[in-house]
Amino acid sequence: MSNYHIKHLEEYFQVYRKSVREPESFWEEIAEEHFVWRKKWDNVLDWDFTKPEIKWFKNAKLNITENCLDRHLPTRGDKTAILFEPNDPEEQTEHITYKQLHERVSRMANVFKDHGVQKGDRVCIYLPMIPELAVAVLACARIGAIHSVVFAGFSAIALATRINDSDCKLVVTSDGSYRGNKTINLKGIVDAALEDCPGVEHVLVVKRTGESIDIKKGRDKWLQPLLDKAYADCNAEIMDAEDPLFILYTSGSTGKPKGMVHTCAGYMVYTAYTFKNVFQYKEEDVYWCTADIGWITGHSYIVYGPLINGATTVMFEGVPSYPDYGRFWEVVEKHKINQFYTAPTAIRALAKENLSYVEKYDLSSLRVLGTVGEPINEEAWHWYNNNIGQKQSPIVDTWWQTETGGIMISPIPYVTPTTPTYATLPFIGIQPALMDEQGKEIKGNQVEGRLCIKFPWPSMARTIWGDHDRYRDTYFTAYQNNYFTGDGALRDAVGYYRITGRVDDVIIVSGHNLGTAPIEDSINEHPAVAESAIVGFPHDVKGNALYGFVILKETGESRDRDNLRKEINQQITEQIGPIAKLDKIQFVSGVPKTRSGKIMRRILRKIAGKDTENLGDISTLLNPEVVKEIMDNAL
Ligand code: PRX
Repeated sequence: MSNYHIKHLEEYFQVYRKSVREPESFWEEIAEEHFVWRKKWDNVLDWDFTKPEIKWFKNAKLNITENCLDRHLPTRGDKTAILFEPNDPEEQTEHITYKQLHERVSRMANVFKDHGVQKGDRVCIYLPMIPELAVAVLACARIGAIHSVVFAGFSAIALATRINDSDCKLVVTSDGSYRGNKTINLKGIVDAALEDCPGVEHVLVVKRTGESIDIKKGRDKWLQPLLDKAYADCNAEIMDAEDPLFILYTSGSTGKPKGMVHTCAGYMVYTAYTFKNVFQYKEEDVYWCTADIGWITGHSYIVYGPLINGATTVMFEGVPSYPDYGRFWEVVEKHKINQFYTAPTAIRALAKENLSYVEKYDLSSLRVLGTVGEPINEEAWHWYNNNIGQKQSPIVDTWWQTETGGIMISPIPYVTPTTPTYATLPFIGIQPALMDEQGKEIKGNQVEGRLCIKFPWPSMARTIWGDHDRYRDTYFTAYQNNYFTGDGALRDAVGYYRITGRVDDVIIVSGHNLGTAPIEDSINEHPAVAESAIVGFPHDVKGNALYGFVILKETGESRDRDNLRKEINQQITEQIGPIAKLDKIQFVSGVPKTRSGKIMRRILRKIAGKDTENLGDISTLLNPEVVKEIMDNAL
């Protein structure tokens, strides 16, 4: 069908118009022709943003793994589904065919069932980027259990918070993980987390690094012997379109992480359709997304989107700098990668290194380059375009979020002319709007505002696990009848969108969303600290880095400052994870506040970014005198 695969710009506009004018019949057509259903829907869409309640493909029945696996068996059974590239380049690549993946998923699903996991139960997956991670995700989906993948860089406390928030009864982990030339003892982290997680009944452990671990009798088991004994076929549980498929936690600007809930049918349709178009995937292609499955990018565009389309998707266990900075390009040459999808922070890090790391390799297989996770700066865009794409491969700068489930604004390669730093046009079916601070839509072009989406799309998160009020308050109250993204954006003269960054208290560091509140809470728990405020400042590799302004208690005043800095970062590492460590810590006597006591982060951001020319009117502050002191001692 023509509108499953957009081939030229006119067709994009034509299909886009249809998707906006008649969204229901548009999505109905896509859903009917390209997916396997156990029962079709009664109604394509029911929605009410005031509640908010969104239902796509109401009363349809399906199992997403039948779309990822079973339906490919007759035609693609021997095609590689997952190509596993290990951390160590000397270790052999593993090719897992669709047939083998089907078998491995079935075995793991049967092991889960044997451990009492039933439809609707939550399973926490805390694994490195090894095939078992994708297998465990699909095994949950097979039996209707809700997977909650936690990125394996999170600390024990962060893991425990997530396990408890969604009451997971089973955890899948590994003995350890490889990261370049280091190993990390994941099982030890799980053990520490589980001291505070009474609801977890079983821990299944994949052997990866071979390091010695503690096995708690009655709770922990090695997974492989169970898989070996398990039956290699497992019936797919029949799911309702709106049954939860997974929970994935993302940071909010306040409080605890938000467990975004994605459901089966809409997520399936939208991730598959976007994958096909945004990467222009063709049957023989080898596609590589370098993200971790612990983030939404990995869920949608390593596992589900590619597998639904019968693609070959690479899973990379390593890091871009090991054994040297040429690793990505070595893998591109080795597997003749056609589509390569990565993050601006990785591009910036690699662009700093000698170009000989790139020039050593044949990158001529590349046809599409992608970026995601944060705004890409012009310099990085050109480096990527000139040296990796050799000006032959369009760059798709894809804007989306954990909450949106799939790509929302992006060029379609070979269709949409690209402009550096612009995510360009809304994807099919997506209706963006820019709002002013009073909540009114800003129409026309060459305007800037807060980015909202006016109309539901199939893969939007349906709620926050256990807290529907927070879901409504965070996304649907700022702008009536609109989903608010938390981002600012501009629309240029031709209607292209450029994302300008977060407008709330979320800071994106190396492509990871970090809320200021949880980091401040963690710092404030240090016995010497009275209060703290975190802001982001520009960093040439990470995009943003964190700058902490810390007020000490009287009892902390005599402490050595460098020791305190180390202790504060140690505390953050233990409570959240190393990704949330601060680059700079300045000890201050106070932070600027409004008369109502709210921290004026705008001023702190300017000081941290060394942009103090125009601080605005500070005379209305509660404590204007503190600003000079902070500026004088800024790091
Ligand atoms: O600020 C936007 C930024 O990342 C945020 C979403 O982060 P997360 O939920 O972790 O999902 C990241 C992967 C989909 C957005 O609100 N962001 C994402 N992609 C882009 C971006 N900012 C600019 N350009 C992008 N292409």
